[in-house]
Amino acid sequence: MSDSVSSLNDPSASGKPSATREQWSSRLVFVLAATGSAVGLGNIWKFPYITGEFGGGAFVLIYLMCIASIGIPIMMAEIMLGRRGRHDPVTTMKKLAKESGHSRSWGLLGWMGVIAGFLILSYYSVIASWAMAYVPRMAAGTFSGLDAQAVNSVFSSLVSSPESLIAWHTLFLFMTMSVVARGVRSGLEKAVTYLMPLLFVLLVVLIFYAMGTGHFWQGLSYLFNPDFSKISTEGILSAMGHAFFTLSLGMGAIMVYGSYLPDHTSIAKASISVALMDTLVALLAGMIIFPIVFANSLEPGAGPGLIFKTLPLAFGHMNYGTFFGTLFFVLLVFAAWTSSISLIEPAITWSMKTFQISRIRAAVTSGILVWFMGLFTVFSFNLASEFTISSAISTKYGEFVILKDATAFDFLDYLTSNIMLPLGGLMIAIYAGWLMNKMYSRDELNINRFWYFIWSVLVRYVAPVMVIIVFFNAMGVVAFVRSIMGV
Ligand code: PHE
Repeated sequence: MSDSVSSLNDPSASGKPSATREQWSSRLVFVLAATGSAVGLGNIWKFPYITGEFGGGAFVLIYLMCIASIGIPIMMAEIMLGRRGRHDPVTTMKKLAKESGHSRSWGLLGWMGVIAGFLILSYYSVIASWAMAYVPRMAAGTFSGLDAQAVNSVFSSLVSSPESLIAWHTLFLFMTMSVVARGVRSGLEKAVTYLMPLLFVLLVVLIFYAMGTGHFWQGLSYLFNPDFSKISTEGILSAMGHAFFTLSLGMGAIMVYGSYLPDHTSIAKASISVALMDTLVALLAGMIIFPIVFANSLEPGAGPGLIFKTLPLAFGHMNYGTFFGTLFFVLLVFAAWTSSISLIEPAITWSMKTFQISRIRAAVTSGILVWFMGLFTVFSFNLASEFTISSAISTKYGEFVILKDATAFDFLDYLTSNIMLPLGGLMIAIYAGWLMNKMYSRDELNINRFWYFIWSVLVRYVAPVMVIIVFFNAMGVVAFVRSIMGV
């Protein structure tokens, strides 16, 4: 297994013709690696808190619809492009475009992915550093018996200290970059093989705790009972953006992983397995967190600190809570680790090829860049929390708010999840659905006529149309046009 994953280490790999390029040994290895990329902070940290911010059930339903109708078909498309191109995302797109007589500017799609990966990792690492900082606190029993208020203040004191955030951010990036530099082989596949199932088991343990809170049904109904009056255009955009984020789509991560996939493994089955596991983890996280929120009269819309304020409460009040709590945050760090590696992998493969540098050099340089960029996020929770931007369009119908009091972190998150990833996904769908020769896509996907037809409809019409509508709506374009036309 390790040999197959070591393909990601090989600096010359991207230059070899596809026949001799190293590959994952089986679909299972690919599914594990892609699941490692997909399951991360997005599922356990982000999904519950944005669900809380956008009011629950309706948001979850739209998110699930986006996973099924946009996420899975685009994931298939992205893996397919990666396998066909067998290079870094920029070169892959240029190569494929050239092969079928389209403009080489499709390389820009790869470029946008490289940049999105940098930007996402810059804040992802800071959030992962919160999880890391919780490990020693959990192990020391800091949360034992604390009430909601006291747990809250542990969190606040952590994020208000730039020094400790910077220290953990440095450590997390160091961990990420050392794996990337040495190649993903160094035990990472083992980490994915053993730790992911363990994380899953732990989530199941926590579900039992949540059932005992007496507010389990309230939590479930919050998650699964849609109240459409609570959903805004921004909520719909965020649900769609999150579908891309959580499946690691639209920025080339899955494309690079796909570039190592052997020729005859089924892309459809792999995509569906990854999407199912990813969704299951997110829903489990939600089913754990909301009962705790309601049992302790907390605020579902508490924002990015939500899991850091709720889970310690649970651990602080359960048998062996110190043990389970420590284990949980360790596993969360691992889940974040396997995702962050894939966030930077497109940039690494691209810079190695473009600047003819070694993997180590590429990792060190990108690490330094991401570290500096991460400071924006670090400071947006303390020193610079007052520096915010707002953006709105005034129309005949009143103000159309796009961003409100956004800190640097909010802005980065909005820009990447809500704009760059859906845009990248849209371009992938258009390329795979409309421009790629059907003979190739049929050959790559290798599914029967019926499923090929379904995939084509989703990737050619449903996904692009949905992305465009949601996008234009949320960007205020619709409100703007309506106000000009007076309708
Ligand atoms: N999917 C990861 C998560 O949910 C984040 C990620 C996004 C990873 C984009 C790679 C690319 O945490």
